Amino acid sequence: MPNVSRRPFLRLALGAAVAPLVSRALRADTFPTRPITIIVPFAAGGPTDVLARILAEYMRGSLGHPVVVENITGASGTVAGLRAARAAADGYTITIGHWGTHCLNGAIYQLQYDVREFAPIALIASGPQLIIARPDLPAKNLKELIGWLKSNASKATAGTAGPGSGAHVAGVFFQQLTDTNFSFVPYRGAGPALNDLMAGHIDIMFDQASNSLAQVKSGTVKAYAVTSSSRLPSAPEIPTVDEAGLPGLYIAYWHGLWAPKGTPAEIVATLGAAVRTALAEPAVRQRFLELGQEIPAPDKQSGDALRAHQAAEIEKWWPIVKSANIKPE
Ligand code: MLT
Repeated sequence: MPNVSRRPFLRLALGAAVAPLVSRALRADTFPTRPITIIVPFAAGGPTDVLARILAEYMRGSLGHPVVVENITGASGTVAGLRAARAAADGYTITIGHWGTHCLNGAIYQLQYDVREFAPIALIASGPQLIIARPDLPAKNLKELIGWLKSNASKATAGTAGPGSGAHVAGVFFQQLTDTNFSFVPYRGAGPALNDLMAGHIDIMFDQASNSLAQVKSGTVKAYAVTSSSRLPSAPEIPTVDEAGLPGLYIAYWHGLWAPKGTPAEIVATLGAAVRTALAEPAVRQRFLELGQEIPAPDKQSGDALRAHQAAEIEKWWPIVKSANIKPE
């Protein structure tokens, strides 16, 4: 075939190959042009939802478009995880997640996605859990709680945010350390579980401090210990697990923000910059402090920092969780 007759074909072929690159570059240049959705993998009003809504409000300023929260609940965040993994990689659907969704779930569930496959946007904050109980539970401290659980083994209950969630996993470690046995009651998030704890329908929870600090302060739930080596600046009256008699039961619940894999780097960077601007706002910092959240230093908030932190947490926790043989049901 003479060369001349191939030229239009070549032009067409080249055009077809280059077009997606050009339109991706244009998309990244102008991003965003419409609202962005953050998928929250748990019920509204719970700890992850609260952090997402604070961020959403303050990210709007730098992005120039609303950031909308969508709660997709079920199976400890794995229903949302699949939805977020399969979303278009254009930056308009992103997800907030944490130690449970983006670390533990990968060891506990047979997933149709990989918790490591997302494009990390930013490491947001980290906070401990509180060991809490319904307000009329008679135990006055952690040692008495352990005694009470031993004498009420057949009927004591712990609320969780789902099978294999952080609250469940922490409860299993607690059982192993204290030789106690109680049943777990799964909810679609820590928010509804806490409501049932306040109402006395369940006995205890291993709950993110951000979910229950306000209720501890108002006396509608009892707190026995914080799962860290130091007391919370916003609740110095709550002893650490070391002080309360359960040394070393440290759990840090970190949160991050991810986009679907394949999201253009420029778009991920725009989203990351909006998160970092939000996290620098004094009002956000104050609110996070009140929620028992520690915001990482700016150089530790990046997507790379989140990727490294997630990898380190997976390396630490997957063997522990797998050897504890924690089942999703
Ligand atoms: C929630 O928002 O309900 C929690 O993040 C669930 C959990 O504790 O894992």
